[in-house]
Amino acid sequence: MSRVLVTGGAGYVGSHGAKALAKAGHQVLVIDDLSTGFRQLARYGRFEQGSLLDRAFIDKVIQEFKPEATLHFAARATVGESVRDPELYHRINVKGSEQLLDALRRHVPESAFLFSSSCAVYAPTSEPLREDHAFGPVSPYGETKLLVEKMLETRGKEYGLRFASLRYFNAAGADTEGEIGEMHQPETHLIPLLLLQCRGSGAAPVKIFGKDYPTRDGTCIRDYVHVEDLASAHLAAMDYLLKGGDSLALNLGTATGHTVLEVVAMVEKVTGKKLPRDFAPRREGDPAQLVADGRAIRSVLGWKPQHDLESIVRSAWNWVQKL
Ligand code: UFG
Repeated sequence: MSRVLVTGGAGYVGSHGAKALAKAGHQVLVIDDLSTGFRQLARYGRFEQGSLLDRAFIDKVIQEFKPEATLHFAARATVGESVRDPELYHRINVKGSEQLLDALRRHVPESAFLFSSSCAVYAPTSEPLREDHAFGPVSPYGETKLLVEKMLETRGKEYGLRFASLRYFNAAGADTEGEIGEMHQPETHLIPLLLLQCRGSGAAPVKIFGKDYPTRDGTCIRDYVHVEDLASAHLAAMDYLLKGGDSLALNLGTATGHTVLEVVAMVEKVTGKKLPRDFAPRREGDPAQLVADGRAIRSVLGWKPQHDLESIVRSAWNWVQKL
C-alpha cells in the first residue's frame, strides 16, 4: 500500500484513477480546484479543494501527506478551447505542473510521478503512432503536454525525478459499477454527445465533422480507450516506478481505430435508437487518424485493454441514463 496524491481527482479520468487506487488498497489524497471537476466524482480517498497555482496550499498538502507517488491528472483538456485561449492552457497545464513538481522536489523528491500526457503531442500521421514518432502538436493543448514532458526529462537529469508520461488516446466509457462517469461542461466529446441525444437531451442533433477524410468511410478515425483501462495502466505504471523502473513515455491506447460513423452505429446498437447522419464541415485541428501502436506498453508493463468499443459505449450509456 502506498500514499498516492491524485491531482484532478474530481475530473473524468482522475476520478476513475482514484477509484482504482482506493480499490487496490492505496491511501489516496485527491486535490482539485473544482474549476472543471465535480465534487461528486471525488468520492475515493480524502479530498482537499485547492489549486496547483496556490503555492501555500500545495506545499502544505505535500509536506503533510508525503506522497510516495503522484498521479497528475489536473489540466485543461479541450483542444478547441486551447486554440481560443492558449494562455489559459499554459498557465494551468504548464505552470500548474511546474509548481506541483517544485513542491514535490522541496518535500519528497523521490516521489514517483505519473503524468497524463496525450497523443496530441505527436505530428499527425495516418500510421499507427509509435512512441518515437516525431513530435508536432497541432494545438496549444498538445503543446502544453509536450512542454511538461520535456520538463520531466530535464528534472530527471537534474535531480533524478522518476516519471512515466502516459500519452492517452481517446478516453471514453464509464465506471462499470456505475458510480462515476464522464461529465464535462460543456460536453464536446463524440460518445457522450451521441448518448445524450439518445437519452433525449433536447439538444440539436450531433454533427459529424467532415466526410472527406482519407479514411475507409471519410470520417475521422480515433483509438477509444476505456477509462477503466486507463486507470489500470496508471496502477501498472506506478508499480513499475515504485519497484525502481526507469522513467519512460508510453502510448495508452488500444491500437484499434474506429471511424465516427462506426461509433454512431455502435451507439445505435447499444441504445436501440436511430440516429441521423448529420454532416458538417471538418472541425479545425482534427487529424484524420490517431491510433496507437500499443506494443511498448504491453511489453514494458504487461498491460492490455480489457474493453472494446461496445463495452465502452455500454458503460457510458449506463452512466448517461443516470445523469
Ligand atoms: N466529433 C464529431 N462531432 C462532434 C464531436 C466529435 O464528429 O460533435 C468527431 C471529431 O471530429 C473526432 C471524433 O469525433 O474525429 C472524436 O472527437 P472528440 O471531441 O470526442 O475527441 P478528440 O479526438 O477531439 O479529443 C481527444 C481527447 C483530447 C485530445 C485529443 C487529441 O479528448 O483530450 O483527442 O487530438 F487532446
